[in-house]
Amino acid sequence: MVHAGFFSDWISDRARHVERLLDVFLPGSDVLPERLHEAMRYAVLGGGKRVRAVLVYAAGKACAGSAQGSGAVDAALDRAAAAVELVHAYSLVHDDLPCMDDDTLRRGRPTLHVQYDEATALLAGDALQPLAFDWLAQMPVAPGQVVEAIRLLARAAGSQGMAGGQAIDLESVGKVLTQYELQRMHTLKTGALLAASVELGGLAASATAAERAALGAYGQAMGLAFQVVDDVLDVTGDTAQLGKTAGKDAADNKPTYVALLGLEGSCALASQLHQQALDALKPLGDAGRLLAGVADFIVVRNN
Ligand code: IPE
Ligand code: IPE
Ligand code: MG
Ligand code: MG
Ligand code: MG
Repeated sequence: MVHAGFFSDWISDRARHVERLLDVFLPGSDVLPERLHEAMRYAVLGGGKRVRAVLVYAAGKACAGSAQGSGAVDAALDRAAAAVELVHAYSLVHDDLPCMDDDTLRRGRPTLHVQYDEATALLAGDALQPLAFDWLAQMPVAPGQVVEAIRLLARAAGSQGMAGGQAIDLESVGKVLTQYELQRMHTLKTGALLAASVELGGLAASATAAERAALGAYGQAMGLAFQVVDDVLDVTGDTAQLGKTAGKDAADNKPTYVALLGLEGSCALASQLHQQALDALKPLGDAGRLLAGVADFIVVRNN
C-alpha cells in the first residue's frame, strides 16, 4: 500500500531534480552575453510547479519496464524533462509581454520584461526555445528516437500547438467562443505541451505501441484539464497564492471555461477529464500509478 504522502513527495523530488539539472545545463550568467543568460536563468529558475517535467518522469516510469533505473533511460528522461521546461518558460515570458497578456507578476516575481526590458524578454524566449532542441538532440537514445523526440516537441510548440493556441487566444479576446472552439484553443495553447511531455517520457523509455496509445489518451485529457483548472484558479485564487495576478482573464475579456460554463460547470469538466485520464491509464496497470498521482495533483492544485 502506497502511503498518502508518497505522490506529493515523489512529485517534489522530481521537481527539485529537474531544477538542479536546469541550473547546471543553462549557461551561467557570467557567460557572454551575460545579461541575456542572466535573464534566461531568471525565466527558468524562478519557481514554478515543474508539472511538465514531472509528467516526463512519470510517463517514463510507467513504460521503462526492464530498463527501469538504467542510466541511459534516466539521462534521456532528464534531457526531455529539462527541454519541456525550457519551452514552457519561454512561452510564459512571451505570454506575459505587453503585446500579449501584459502581466507584471509571474511565479511571485516581476515578469521578465518588467525586471529587465521587452527586448531582453523577446530574446530570452528566442534563445530558450532552440536550447530545448539542443538538449533533446543530446538524448542518449537511438538516432531515430532523437529525431522523433525533436519532431514531437517542435509540433507541440509550433503553429499547430502552443503558438497556434496563443494566436487563437489573442484573436478571441472579447468574443464568445463555442465550447468546441474553446476546447481547440486550450488544447493547442496548453494541452499540446503537456501531452508532448507525456509522450516524450514514453519515447525516452522506449514505450510499446500499446503504452504509447495509453499515454496519448492520458496526455490529451490532462492537457486540457490543466488549462480548465488554470481558468478556474484565475477566478478562485488570490494573487499571493497564484504568484500571478488573479482575476486577469475576466479583466482582459478572455474567453475561458469559467466565462463559458461557470465555475461549477468548469470544475465538473475538470473532474470528467480527470476521470477520462485515469481510465486511459488502465492498460498500464500498476505502472501507471505515478501518472495517476500527477493527474490528481493537477486537478487539486491551488496555484
Ligand atoms: C501556466 O503554467 C501557464 C499555463 C499554460 C496555464 P503553469 O501553471 O504550469 O506555470 P508554472 O510553471 O507552475 O509557473
Ligand atoms: C498561457 O495561458 C498558455 C501559454 C502558452 C503560456 P494563460 O495566459 O492563461 O497562462 P497564465 O494564466 O498567464 O499563466
Ligand atoms: Mg495567455
Ligand atoms: Mg497569461
Ligand atoms: Mg491563465
